[in-house]
Amino acid sequence: MEVTRERAWQTLTQYTKAEALRRHALAVEAAVGWYARDFGEDEEFWRATALLHDFDYEIHPTLDKHPQDGAPLLREEGYPEELIEAVLSHAEHLNMERDTKLKKTLFACDELAGFVHACGLVRPDGIATLEPKSVRKKLKQPSFAAGVHRDEVYAGAELLGLELDDHIRNVVAAMRPIAAELGLRTSEAA
Ligand SMILES: [Fe+2]
Ligand SMILES: [Fe+2]
Repeated sequence: MEVTRERAWQTLTQYTKAEALRRHALAVEAAVGWYARDFGEDEEFWRATALLHDFDYEIHPTLDKHPQDGAPLLREEGYPEELIEAVLSHAEHLNMERDTKLKKTLFACDELAGFVHACGLVRPDGIATLEPKSVRKKLKQPSFAAGVHRDEVYAGAELLGLELDDHIRNVVAAMRPIAAELGLRTSEAA
């Protein structure tokens, strides 16, 4: 099969009905797509992978099933092993080596995109003026977006060989153009 962003979106929305999960997929897609372009990699393939990384979470909401039980479903749909392996590698509990740029980037963007999203939801202009400094400050408040694993955010930046501030700046910049789709207020509306 030809892996396209459109095909991945179809698979995602077939299994994922919850808006919050679809928005998470879009946020991670934006960040991973941003890096694909920055690195000169296959943006369509990277976007499809990011869209699908949590595609089975709604049907497999526990770590004894997600994402490992999603893999056979992707295989049945005809997705290539390269994509499936990258999807699997985002999960810490599977302890897979992140030995490709795509795997590193997906891991680095997953928790941070979720965290930036959470930051944007409590700001009057969403992420329009969100700076790394205030993201870092919020990372140090354990009660804020408590579900986001801080250690994975820090490990992700390191894996990409980036300063945390630069990684935050990139992810925010990637998400800004789709802020409305992510349910965030935009500066025009503020
Ligand atoms: Fe996941
Ligand atoms: Fe995720």
